[in-house]
Amino acid sequence: MEATIEVSGLRKRYGPTVALDGMTFTVTPGRVTGFVGPNGAGKSTTMRVILGLDSVDEGRALVGGRPYRALRHPLRQVGSLLDASALQPSRTGRNHLLWLAHSQGLGARRVDEVAERVGLTSAIRRKAGGYSLGMRQRLGIAAALLGDPPVLVLDEPVNGMDPEGIRWVRGFLRSLAAEGRAVLVSSHLMSELQDTADHVVIVGRGKVIADVGVAELIEAASGERVTVRTSARTPAMTALARAGATVAVTGADTLTVTGLSGERVVAVLGENAVPFSEVSAHRASLEEAYMELTRDAVEFHAAEGAR
Ligand SMILES: Nc1ncnc2c1ncn2[C@@H]1O[C@H](COP(=O)(O)OP(=O)(O)O)[C@@H](O)[C@H]1O
Ligand SMILES: [Mg+2]
Repeated sequence: MEATIEVSGLRKRYGPTVALDGMTFTVTPGRVTGFVGPNGAGKSTTMRVILGLDSVDEGRALVGGRPYRALRHPLRQVGSLLDASALQPSRTGRNHLLWLAHSQGLGARRVDEVAERVGLTSAIRRKAGGYSLGMRQRLGIAAALLGDPPVLVLDEPVNGMDPEGIRWVRGFLRSLAAEGRAVLVSSHLMSELQDTADHVVIVGRGKVIADVGVAELIEAASGERVTVRTSARTPAMTALARAGATVAVTGADTLTVTGLSGERVVAVLGENAVPFSEVSAHRASLEEAYMELTRDAVEFHAAEGAR
């Protein structure tokens, strides 16, 4: 089966609420695709549609070229984690996995394999009701992997995890993509995906705002900011503004400069004999690029809520 997800033109309303407004993107194999957007952007709804759990008014979602419902062995074609707390608390983690495995004709050996792969071996015979959220997330990821699927759909898998767990998920998702799988992972925080995703589909208000490589996104972000520390603020501002920079005062002896490279700032200050104790250039972070792109989408929701 081709390891891809194709989402095209999804539209869905819940009464007056537009949940999906033409959602369109493709998830390709061999990389982690981050699905990022503010709460309410339509990420979970899109994932439920991909997994055949929700209907749409328009559009379609295909996994390996087929609608989910037409897949012959769904767990072997797409693994998913939507809600890690959806567990029967009195069942052990192992029994939870066994029950899922049996429903797909998979055996106990596979259960123990996936439990080991997610680092749950020591807890797998304990009742799932006593698991921390992080352990539930691991169990959910184990369940997603049972059928060794080429496609994975994970909804906010690091939500509620401790830093060690987050580090583990990051590395784990990368290794799944390196095995050639298509991995779609959502988050409302770009920072969570910074070291994980190769590509991001940024959404807001039910549609795609940007569909870009992570490297490209950082590149496109508003460029370099240069911090200048100087005891001669006014002469520095005058010289830099004359050289074409935009200068903001950000502290008693600090200026933030945009529109000129760090090198150029040093040259301009030198040419004008302006003393300085520091010139440092910063690239915009992925988080900053993301905030810029989603600002409108967030404002829309804030305004709606205020009404
Ligand atoms: N079952 C539902 N009933 C009514 N509205 C819903 C339901 N599920 C989602 N929505 C609405 O659809 C929009 C998208 O929600 P969702 O897909 O959960 O976004 P996200 O996962 O990006 O936070 C939101 O406005 C949400 O309130
Ligand atoms: Mg959600």
